[in-house]
Amino acid sequence: MELEGKICVLTGASSGIGRTAAVDLASHGMTVCVVARRKDLLQQLVEELPGNGHSYVVADVSDVEQVRSVERHVRATYGSLHALVNNAGFTRGGEFTGEDSLDAVRAVIETNYLGTVNACAVFLPLLEASAPSRIVNVASMAGRLAFPRSSAYVASKFAVVGWSESAAFDLSPRGISVCLIEPGPIPTEGFPQESLVGHPLLARALGSQQDVADAIRSAIIKGTPTRAVPRWYRPLQLPRLIAPPLYRFLAGRLTRGHTVERD
Ligand SMILES: NC(=O)c1ccc[n+]([C@@H]2O[C@H](COP(=O)([O-])OP(=O)(O)OC[C@H]3O[C@@H](n4cnc5c(N)ncnc54)[C@H](OP(=O)(O)O)[C@@H]3O)[C@@H](O)[C@H]2O)c1
Repeated sequence: MELEGKICVLTGASSGIGRTAAVDLASHGMTVCVVARRKDLLQQLVEELPGNGHSYVVADVSDVEQVRSVERHVRATYGSLHALVNNAGFTRGGEFTGEDSLDAVRAVIETNYLGTVNACAVFLPLLEASAPSRIVNVASMAGRLAFPRSSAYVASKFAVVGWSESAAFDLSPRGISVCLIEPGPIPTEGFPQESLVGHPLLARALGSQQDVADAIRSAIIKGTPTRAVPRWYRPLQLPRLIAPPLYRFLAGRLTRGHTVERD
């Protein structure tokens, strides 16, 4: 798909990967409608985006009624939608400790997983009317590999991966490609990756926000089913698939002291 003149909705664009991807897509000719909860950051972003016609809507993706208001805005303003990038997400919860953990599990699932499905459902008619079109879901390597003290987040990303891989079959005949982006650790506001950034060796394993933005752009252009960022993370899934006890041993040892938890 050519990007020039095409319309994109991008969630979670007020910071981090989403913000970088919005700038990247706009600078490659797309018209972008950015979505998140922090109005001031969205306003500032739209003023900075290269090109014309960009807009923002303040919305919480976990609330389907708020997602419908984004859809009404996009339909009235642009009348078409060629790419929906579901990037909004966060982590909370840390170690699973029983009933104390249930609120965090619900909150993370409601945004990371159900927020993604909400947007796919609400925008489906517009995406189908604009086909060929793309849904690009920003999952994570944590959607393929479990690691300690992150069960709410890992579950939400496994759900995004499973849902996307199944929905891809349903939506392909309707002209909509479903693409998965699976980043490894990337330093951002919500995922500072402090324990890796300061590590002399492990810091080399970090990808950048621009690496993920490149992968998102490439997925919109080519409809690539799935893409790990960096690419060399993909074979890390092998030990989990072929030698689960070895994977548990290694993941437990290597992630000692590391957590993706923010609050
Ligand atoms: N950084 C990493 O290491 C990494 C690795 C793999 C996958 N990812 C995924 O990449 C995506 C972007 O994360 P990031 O690293 O760029 O973190 P970030 O800087 O914290 O960005 C998260 C974005 O999501 C938005 N958001 C959160 N909850 C929302 C909700 N309920 N409704 C609407 N927007 C919401 C936030 O904006 P508001 O607070 O303004 O709403 C923000 O714009 C997430 O899905 C994350 O799981 C990140």
